[in-house]
Amino acid sequence: MQASKTMLKRGVSKTAIVFIVLMVFFLASYVNLSLLSRSNVSVASSISRTRPGVVSKTREERPARSPPHSLPEIKRAITCDCSHKDYDLWFINGPTLFDPITSTFFTTGPSNSTPPDLAVKFHPYPRKTDERAKSKVNELTLTSAPPKSSCGITHSNPAIVFSTGGYTGNFYHQFNDVLLALYITVNSLSLNRDVILTVTNWSDWWFQKYADLLHHFTKHPILNMDNQTRTHCFPSAIIGLMTHGPLVVDPTQTQQKTLLAFHALLEKTYIPRGKYVSTFDKSKNARPQLVLVNRKNGVGREILNLKEALRAIEEVGFKAIVFEPKRNGAVGDTYRLLHGSHAMLAVHGAAMTHLLFLRVGMVLGEIVPIGTDWLANTFYEKPARVLGLEYMKYKIGVSESSLAEKYGVDDLVLSNPPAFVNGNWTKAKVYMKIQNVKLDMVRFRKYLKEVFVKAKRFMDKEG
Ligand SMILES: *[C@@H]1O[C@H](CO)[C@@H](O)[C@H](O)[C@H]1NC(C)=O
Ligand SMILES: *[C@@H]1O[C@H](CO)[C@@H](O)[C@H](O)[C@H]1NC(C)=O
Ligand SMILES: *[C@@H]1O[C@H](CO)[C@@H](O)[C@H](O)[C@H]1NC(C)=O
Ligand SMILES: *[C@@H]1O[C@H](CO)[C@@H](O)[C@H](O)[C@H]1NC(C)=O
Repeated sequence: MQASKTMLKRGVSKTAIVFIVLMVFFLASYVNLSLLSRSNVSVASSISRTRPGVVSKTREERPARSPPHSLPEIKRAITCDCSHKDYDLWFINGPTLFDPITSTFFTTGPSNSTPPDLAVKFHPYPRKTDERAKSKVNELTLTSAPPKSSCGITHSNPAIVFSTGGYTGNFYHQFNDVLLALYITVNSLSLNRDVILTVTNWSDWWFQKYADLLHHFTKHPILNMDNQTRTHCFPSAIIGLMTHGPLVVDPTQTQQKTLLAFHALLEKTYIPRGKYVSTFDKSKNARPQLVLVNRKNGVGREILNLKEALRAIEEVGFKAIVFEPKRNGAVGDTYRLLHGSHAMLAVHGAAMTHLLFLRVGMVLGEIVPIGTDWLANTFYEKPARVLGLEYMKYKIGVSESSLAEKYGVDDLVLSNPPAFVNGNWTKAKVYMKIQNVKLDMVRFRKYLKEVFVKAKRFMDKEG
């Protein structure tokens, strides 16, 4: 765990400890124990958790018997759900002041007398063991020490604080580490749109790109923490985002919501007039449309014989469209292009994340270079199956890899990638950054014919 706890006050008396232990025991009698066990930092406060709109889920968890009132002395202003392997989630369970100069959240509620003051340093990004990601995320301080200034701007809604630094230049991480993570967090904690998205490592392009989607998470303006000159006060704050793994939504944690519900949210966002209605004619001559997502950034995994590949795609009967993702590309346009097609094909990589934009039942083809099988399966095949896509893998042979020329087909690099990498991620870069693909047109054509059959079937059924 990255967050470091600092005991500011030393020398807690034995009486105080006994008192705390007793109070914990007392609280446990009416606060669901799961609340306590998921926090190994402190006792979650029942008082602050009843605050409307913050963690309303706990309302259901609380037994009907009403708790004793006014227990300010057991209130913990700062708590953590630190029990997950990928993320920590911090809560400031009462009024808080954000000082932009020191990137610090101070608790400002009635005295948090016991136990001692807490100061935590935290990178609000859901990859808690990934030091490289965290180095690209501003570090925040959460403290129960008193603030030195007063409220400049007062908000009447809780803050949910996260970063669009980290790896979010990458399309996969834009979704997995922020947009989907936000979706999971909001649904897990039953937050309505009455929260203030409070963001560090702000970039204008990012927020312009995803403005339409972000509006589903809040009805308030989004706050850029980085350029503020005044302090901001909130009734409470959630700092960090949750994740359930690569494009995974675990319905047991999100009120039965799955990746399909997120998929539906995207449809609602980008096809605002309701459900997609196909404009494809169903005449005999109609050709299914295949979008080939092309990497063109010179850092590996390019299709070297793209022209030939496109010719083959047309020859088996498709209408082929080449799509090159751009950082500032309008998400809505991309969404509608893919959603209105019948097949998408891409070499393994972040652009495969566009699978979230496809209609259920569409064909998703993934060209899997040497040494990327596990990644392809974990990151894209699994979510594709959850969404009910027709996932079709094209695993290249060693002679279709550009590494064959460089190393020879018998080299360990090609004959046994797991043995070559042997746990050293740096070595895996040869597959991700250096390897390109030269499709064997005989094999590829055979694959395309199978893709065509399924895409045609989809078109005939769904338009
Ligand atoms: C408490 O947090 C630490 C640091 O993240 C972790 O190693 C430990 O497993 C956690 N304990 C429990 C009971 O969750
Ligand atoms: C985010 O903030 C960190 C720490 O200040 C900085 O090093 C990093 O470059 C920032 N990243 C982005 C993408 O703004
Ligand atoms: C901070 O940045 C946001 C987003 O670019 C902008 O809308 C806002 O006006 C800026 N605020 C200040 C105080 O400069
Ligand atoms: C991992 O591989 C790189 C590149 O081959 C090498 O420089 C580095 O020393 C290796 N690291 C370990 C821990 O073996």
